[in-house]
Amino acid sequence: KKGDFDHFMKKEIHEQPDSLTTSMRGRLKDGVVGLGGLKDHMRTIRRSRRIVFIGCGTSYHAALAARPIMEELTDIPVTMEIASDLLDRKALIFKEDTAVFVSQSGETADTLLALEYALDNGALCVGVTNTVGSTLARKTDCGVHINAGCEIGVASTKAYTSQIVVMVMMALAIGSDKMSTLAKREAIIAGLTKLPEKAGDVLKLDGEMKALAESLIDKQSLLMFGRGNNYATALEGALKVKEVALMHSEGMFAGEMKHGPLALVDECLPIIVIATRDDTFSKQQSVIQQLHARKGRLIVMCYKGDASLVCPDGETRVIEVPQVADCLQPIINIIPMQLLAYHLTVLRGYDVDQPRNLAKSVTTQ
Ligand code: M6R
Repeated sequence: KKGDFDHFMKKEIHEQPDSLTTSMRGRLKDGVVGLGGLKDHMRTIRRSRRIVFIGCGTSYHAALAARPIMEELTDIPVTMEIASDLLDRKALIFKEDTAVFVSQSGETADTLLALEYALDNGALCVGVTNTVGSTLARKTDCGVHINAGCEIGVASTKAYTSQIVVMVMMALAIGSDKMSTLAKREAIIAGLTKLPEKAGDVLKLDGEMKALAESLIDKQSLLMFGRGNNYATALEGALKVKEVALMHSEGMFAGEMKHGPLALVDECLPIIVIATRDDTFSKQQSVIQQLHARKGRLIVMCYKGDASLVCPDGETRVIEVPQVADCLQPIINIIPMQLLAYHLTVLRGYDVDQPRNLAKSVTTQ
């Protein structure tokens, strides 16, 4: 049921304060993360030579967003694999690996075939899925359900933010034997408890995102530049725009700007730069200055109150978002992008919940 909303996508975007709460329910007690599904395998995971994240589309992006904190808190190298590419390359998977399969539906063909492959190679296989009883849930050695609730819109929204939350909790649980990161872990856990409220705050940008969509309705293309924790946000924001609004959009690693994309910059092409404060902030400020010097049409995402730090002039459009812990910021930052994609789609007159040529669950290769 869509309730008061015109479309499932809009409903699911607005459900995120609740879906994030449900994903964390019963798993954060007295400052400790408990993930029952992983408990018996923790020793093996901690001893693994590397963690390999495997998924497709939005699920892959969620894993990419969680990668930095997983490496930081566990001291285990994390590599990323798009399921179909892993299969094409017959990539090396070792029995000392922990392979984490991320899939909202738990039925994506490429992800399931990659799972068979990793099981054959003897890796410990962990599932992160929204679907209890799915093939992924049944065939993996262990796992965590994301508990985001049923997602109907083809564009994945609330499942994405819950997947990140669950993988951050996994990082906290796996890394919980390290005294050196105790303060950091405590700060993240405190941040998790406030996250649903912050997601509610950022949803108030709905009207602003509609106005931004109105200004972009006739554009051919939209670029998104991110780095660090928010490289995934750029990729995922662009995927949402192309998938539902049927507008060409590309998410780019801002560190690669000078190696090609800079040639595209002119007064017409809109570019969203994610510049919420973290270790990469000064680098993003410099990217903004360089784009501005080339008269780029900039839209900057930053913390509330940071506009004067990131905008080279009074004309640059800003999307001001609330601050959370660095590793949780992608959860907040994607929400305005989801709203933008939604409004662009409605304004351009396309089918929001069932974009052409796409299926909710891709069960063929
Ligand atoms: O069910 P899964 O998470 O395995 O699906 C993977 C992708 O097909 C999916 O995330 C797709 O990219 C979304 N429709 C994007 O919104």
